Amino acid sequence: MPQITWRCASGKSFSIDVAAGQSLMEAARDHDVDGIYGDCGGNLACATCHVVVPPEWVPVTGQPDAMEDDMLDIVETGRTETSRLSCQILATEEMEGMVLDVPGA
Ligand code: FES
Repeated sequence: MPQITWRCASGKSFSIDVAAGQSLMEAARDHDVDGIYGDCGGNLACATCHVVVPPEWVPVTGQPDAMEDDMLDIVETGRTETSRLSCQILATEEMEGMVLDVPGA
């Protein structure tokens, strides 16, 4: 069960043990991580689960597919080169120690 940390624009950090296979949006929402809302329930329709993945972790998380890429264009919190919608990232053991940034509006 990898431990993943969300570093939020609010200044708070949340370190959560996430079950392999669970989406990072669900894990964050279950623990009230600041700035992660998941309004659409993970259906790629809201973009309220935006995170920025440190470049060194991109090989582990992978890249967004075309639909996610389109949705990333509407995030309100400033898309970056390594932005992802966290409902589309499923936890794996290889994510142990990963730190994600949650941009603020
Ligand atoms: S939860 Fe809506 S796009 Fe991720």
